[in-house]
Amino acid sequence: MMKESIEEALNVQMNRELFSSYLYLAMAADFEKKNLRGMGTWMRIQAGEEYAHAMKFYDFIINRGGTVSLRKIDAPPKSWKSPLQAFENAYEHEQKVTHWIHELVDLAISEKDHATAVMLQWFVNEQVEEELNASENVANLKLLGDKGPILMIDHHLGKRKKS
Ligand code: FEO
Repeated sequence: MMKESIEEALNVQMNRELFSSYLYLAMAADFEKKNLRGMGTWMRIQAGEEYAHAMKFYDFIINRGGTVSLRKIDAPPKSWKSPLQAFENAYEHEQKVTHWIHELVDLAISEKDHATAVMLQWFVNEQVEEELNASENVANLKLLGDKGPILMIDHHLGKRKKS
C-alpha cells in the first residue's frame, strides 16, 4: 500500500502528463492548420508519448493497490505566433515537468517509499531526453531563422517515428 501523500502526488503528476498530451496535441493541430505537417506529426507523436507517461502513473497506482483519481484537464492555448514560440513553450513546459518529477523523487525518499523512488528513475532519465529534444528544436529554429528554412525543419521533424 502507498501512503496517501504519495498516492495524491502520483495522481497530480498523472494529470500533468495528460495536460502535456493536450498541450502537444494543440500544437499539432495548430501546425497542421498552418500546413506545417512535419511539425504536426512530431507533436502528434509527442502527445502520444505523454499519454503513455500518464498511463505509467495509472498502472503504478493500480499495481500498488491505490486509487486512480482522474481530474479536470486544463485547456491548452489554441495557437502560437510562430513555430519558434511553440517549441520554446514546449521546452519551458518540459523544464517544469523535470522540476515536478524531481520533487516527486524527493517526496518518495522522504516518505521512505523505495518502490516509488525506483519507478520514478525512469522519468528522471526520460526528462533528460525530453529536455534535449525540446532544446534542440528551439536551437535549430533560432539558428535557421524563419520562413524558407522552416520548411526544411518541418520536413526533418516529419521523419520522427514512434518509439
Ligand atoms: Fe511526460 Fe514530456 O514529460
